[in-house]
Amino acid sequence: MSADSTAALVSEAIDQVLTHRERNCTDPSCARHAGTTDCPPITVSRSPGSVLGEAVAEAWHAAGGSRLDIPAGVVAALALWPQKSPGAEAADTIAAYIAAQPPRVLVRGLAESADFYWGLRPDLWTAARPLFDWTREDLNDTELAGVRAVAPAALRHGVLQHTGDTDPAERSRIDLLSWVITSLRHHHSRRSLGEYHTPPDISELLAAVLAADNGAGGNRRRGEWALEPAAGTGGLFRSAAQDLRRDGEDPAERGWIMLELDPLAAAGAAVNALVWELGPRAFVGCGDVLAQLDLAEDTLAKARDMARHRDDVMKLIGFAIATRTTDQLLDALTASRWRLARSTPRGPGLKEDGGSPRPPREPGRSPGAARRHARAQPYPRVRADLRMPRRRGPVVLAHRHRAPVLRTRALPRRSRPKAGPPDQSAAHR
Ligand SMILES: C[S@@+](CC[C@H](N)C(=O)[O-])C[C@H]1O[C@@H](n2cnc3c(N)ncnc32)[C@H](O)[C@@H]1O
Repeated sequence: MSADSTAALVSEAIDQVLTHRERNCTDPSCARHAGTTDCPPITVSRSPGSVLGEAVAEAWHAAGGSRLDIPAGVVAALALWPQKSPGAEAADTIAAYIAAQPPRVLVRGLAESADFYWGLRPDLWTAARPLFDWTREDLNDTELAGVRAVAPAALRHGVLQHTGDTDPAERSRIDLLSWVITSLRHHHSRRSLGEYHTPPDISELLAAVLAADNGAGGNRRRGEWALEPAAGTGGLFRSAAQDLRRDGEDPAERGWIMLELDPLAAAGAAVNALVWELGPRAFVGCGDVLAQLDLAEDTLAKARDMARHRDDVMKLIGFAIATRTTDQLLDALTASRWRLARSTPRGPGLKEDGGSPRPPREPGRSPGAARRHARAQPYPRVRADLRMPRRRGPVVLAHRHRAPVLRTRALPRRSRPKAGPPDQSAAHR
């Protein structure tokens, strides 16, 4: 990733953190603050994957949609939805909330659901991008209507019931994305890639046979790696992982490499690796295994680079947030000094004549520019203000109009006016 895009990423992250921390977000599509909270319950059933896939495809095509990445991405983002609960007991409530959101809020929420995983697994997040890139596009009305139709269809057929459990074994009962992607594809395009994913019964049988073979030979060891060179959305690994769990093993202790030519199927495999919790050594590479013989090694190397880059970016973000927050505090402190000075003619920091402490206006500099110029050099003024009470009394930081206001008990001798009319406002303080 170039330095420019890293800087943009860091800057966007800080803006998000600071904006949401202050709870003053005005972005109309922000799912956290602008979404509706009027969410009537919806009827949900935990339908089989085939029924859910058909319902999604029907809703999408009825709304006039043509692309595959959008409806498949809607389901993938819902499957990744980060709030999981035991027995998926919160799924109904979350489904009602998501189904009630207006289209742009919905798109933003789905994007955030996917983005949540960048910090966890930047490589899988990157492999999954073909399913989520559309969330950053300016969608047309048909596409928005399609998203608005697909999400409730998937929710009503139980996408969150399938994927909202805290137990990964429960989330691995079906390969939801395989059902959705294959339902969305027309038969002719499926045939061109040979993309008929193995039916779950067969893949479970295969996993059981392989496990029995390995078990008899004593080959089945913790820490082993498995490679799937034509992985589709990873259905065979789902069965293998479930088989391990049934035997009391944690699939996360193994290594899983899935390679796949079709970017959308590879993206589905990456999402599945997260939903099924295949663990920190589950990787997805997209490419032609016949032409790229080192695709597996290349996938692992890229994943290491992305993790390093993620760590660098996180450090930068932490540092930048800390420094920007300090800067904002100083700014607020300085601004509050101006306000205080304006409302209390004899406040601390005033000039001897009791007038405004503003710097003299330079010719050609507007009042706004003068303020910005003064704020750009806050240190001498702030340090002088903070030194002052140490000699004369304690500093009290109070909140007035949400900005910190600096008050002192008494004025330093130097700042007191030598002579002049009695100060009315001082008498009321
Ligand atoms: C029949 S599907 C099997 C998928 C999966 N293994 C399963 O059992 O569900 C075959 C998959 O291989 C992929 N594929 C075909 N040619 C490939 C190639 N040269 N390199 C990588 N993947 C390929 C197709 O895109 C398709 O998803």
